[in-house]
Order: sequence, then C-alpha cells, then structure tokens
Amino acid sequence: MQANHPLPVDPDRLLAIAEKWGTPTYVYLEAMIRERCRSLKSLFPEMPVSWLYAVKANDNPHVIRIIAGEGFGFDTVSYEEVLLCLKLGTDPRNIFYTENNMTDAEMHGAASQGVILNIGSLGRLAAFCKAYPGTECSIRIKPDISDGHHAKVDTGNQDSKFGIRLDLVPEAVNIARKHGVRIRGIHAHIGSGIQEPENLLAEIEVLLKSSVNLQDIAFINFGGGIPIPYRPGESPFDLERFADLASDRLKKFLAGAKNPVSFFFEPGRWIVGPAGVLLTQANTVKDQGRKSFIGTDTGFNHLLRPALYDAYHMVVNLSGTTGREEDKTYHIAGNICESGDMLALDRTLPETRPGDYLAVLDAGAYGMTMASQYNRRALPAEVLITTEGYHKTIRSRKSPEETVDDFLRETGMAAAQPDGVS
Ligand SMILES: Cc1ncc(COP(=O)(O)O)c(C=O)c1O
Repeated sequence: MQANHPLPVDPDRLLAIAEKWGTPTYVYLEAMIRERCRSLKSLFPEMPVSWLYAVKANDNPHVIRIIAGEGFGFDTVSYEEVLLCLKLGTDPRNIFYTENNMTDAEMHGAASQGVILNIGSLGRLAAFCKAYPGTECSIRIKPDISDGHHAKVDTGNQDSKFGIRLDLVPEAVNIARKHGVRIRGIHAHIGSGIQEPENLLAEIEVLLKSSVNLQDIAFINFGGGIPIPYRPGESPFDLERFADLASDRLKKFLAGAKNPVSFFFEPGRWIVGPAGVLLTQANTVKDQGRKSFIGTDTGFNHLLRPALYDAYHMVVNLSGTTGREEDKTYHIAGNICESGDMLALDRTLPETRPGDYLAVLDAGAYGMTMASQYNRRALPAEVLITTEGYHKTIRSRKSPEETVDDFLRETGMAAAQPDGVS
C-alpha cells in the first residue's frame, strides 16, 4: 500500500463499497467515531467536564445519533443546526447555540424551544435580554488569542468578527443585570485545527479569569479546534498531555470557585475527521508536459478543503496496481470547471489508470457539510460501516436527472417551455 498513512479500514472493503454504491461516496466508520468519543470522555476523570460535538463538522443525522448515543451534547452555529438536533430528539438543554449574526427570528425560534443561546455581540445580548427578561444565556468573548490550521479558520484573533471584546464584558454584565438575565456561561473558540496547545491553555486562562466577574456563572466552554494529523508522519495532538496541563489549572480554579462550575469542550474534526473517506474514481489520466494529471469524478464541490484552505488530504489508489509501471507523481484534479479544482498536488502513487478507485483520507469532517452543487453536480452518497460491519446507506445519491429535475422544481421551472414557445 502506497502512502504510509494507515487507511482506517481494509481497502478491499472500500473497493467493494465503491463498486456497489458507485462514486463519489463518503464512507464513515461508526466504530471509530464511537471509539474517539469514548477516548475524549476519558480524558478528565472525575472532573465536571462535558463534551459537545460541533455539528458543523459532519451533520449527517446518523452521525449525530451515534454521537448522541455516546453521551455528547451538541454545539450548533445556526438555527438550522439547532432544528436538526431538536428534530433528532435532542433535549434542548443539551444544545448550545453559538450565534453568529443571528436574526430576531432565529433568536426567538431557538430561545422559545429552550436552547441555550451563546451570544457574541452586545447588540444581540441587549435584544435577547429585552425579549427574554429574567432568563439565562451564555456569552462568547473574543480572547485575542489566535490559532487554527489556516487564517480563514482562526477565530479568536484581535480582528476577528466573533465574540464580545474582553473590555466590553462589564458592559455585557450591566445589560444582563438591567433585565434580570443571568449570564450562566462564558465561551470562546480560538480556531479550528489548533497548532499550539499553549494557545488553548492561554485561552482557558482568559476564560477562567473573565468568569470571575460573572456572579451567576455555571459553565465555561473552551470551544473546539482539536487538530488531527493529515500528512504522513505528522504527529497527533498530544491530548493526554494537554488534559494533564488543563486539569491542573481547572482543579485549582474549582478549589477557589464560589459556586459549582462545569466545563465544556466542543470538538468536531477530531471526532469525525479520521473516520471518513471520500471514494472517487479516476476517469482520465493525462500528461500535460510538465505535470501528469489524474482526473476524478469529484471535486471541490464535494471536498472544498484543499481549494479553500490549501489543505492536505492523503490519497490512496485502492485498485489492484501490482504489476504496473513504477510509481509516478501526479496532480489529482476534480471535474469542476475551474483550474483551482485540485484535490492533491504532486502525489506519488502507483501508476494510475482510468477506472481505478481512489480514497481521499481524513475526509469525515468539513467534507460533506461543505459540499455544494456547483456546476449543477449531484452530491455524493454517504455510507456508514456500522459497528457490526454492515454497510448502510445514510444518504442516497441522486442521479443527474433527479438533480436537474429537483432544481427545475425548486426554481419553479419544472413545467417551463423552451424559450420562444408560448
Ligand atoms: C464555535 C465553534 N465551535 C467548535 C468548532 C469545531 O471546531 P473543530 O472541528 O476544529 O473542533 C467550530 C469550528 O470552527 C466553531 O466555529
């Protein structure tokens, strides 16, 4: 097997799924998702630490159900995500809604169903307090600590659009007090794919210190962002070391706290990223002079991360390549009509031929949730390998005809006549 990064599952199994379901198809491993949830939950024994899953990473309802079954609550960032969790039966008190430029309608929708609102601006806090006096909420602060795997996902820096400025927290307290609203929680999220654990520890420090000024504080949410290795040989984030360092600090805090306080983390990528693979088929192989290209049946409409963040995903040729010419270096291209539609650059793979199936690894987070129908393409199918080893369709593929028919229906043009025909 090329590329010294372990596939999360036997390649023959992936080949069988590619052949039966066709491509492009996302495949997720239930056992691995569960195992990762459990290892997170064991990190802070006997401490009041709870875990929320960041739904934005992968919102397939089957995935949400699995993670709920592991005792996780949910971190949501839109009213639609709130509704999704509610409709899947989540207790509203286990849904944390981190608003971002929320509308009044979204605020009323979530608040009236008992969901905890995590408010990131003074204006929205004032609107909430006015509409819901005597209730409770959480506030998101801007800690001025930045991290993340790319500038576009660095959310805690000084110029970030997210959160309430630290020097404005006293004003937030005044606004809440005026309306008898109790600020029960304080939250920050410094970025996705944190590079330096020290930054997360520094953010924890800022939150602990800020919470002291909140007399009704009941919980502190440190956000998500735990990274995963994407490149061969990249070391994983040392979770145990991080948890040891954080535990010492949290225990000290609890020892001096006036009221009982619990802590939250809200990771997404770490739970589902490595548990997902995007299967695609090579349909074109060509030598463009200086570069050789493998053309596939997917693209940045299905996996945006390489185009948006210059993100690296390992790619493995699953097909039987024994007896072929020696390894070659390829750019792996998508089928979207844009030159930036590259899944991977300069990858050395066994000689690849049209018809070969490829697996794009670590695609379980921010893959399908960021997928679009650009170029009017259909979305991929999604398949779950259950803990018992069954293959289950968890989102079926639409044919090109269904895709276009749906589009015409949604745009009110299903019955339209060609131009010029009345
Ligand atoms: C508010 C919030 N919480 C949690 C997350 C989850 O981040 P990650 O998937 O890197 O753990 C994100 C993603 O950026 C986020 O915006």
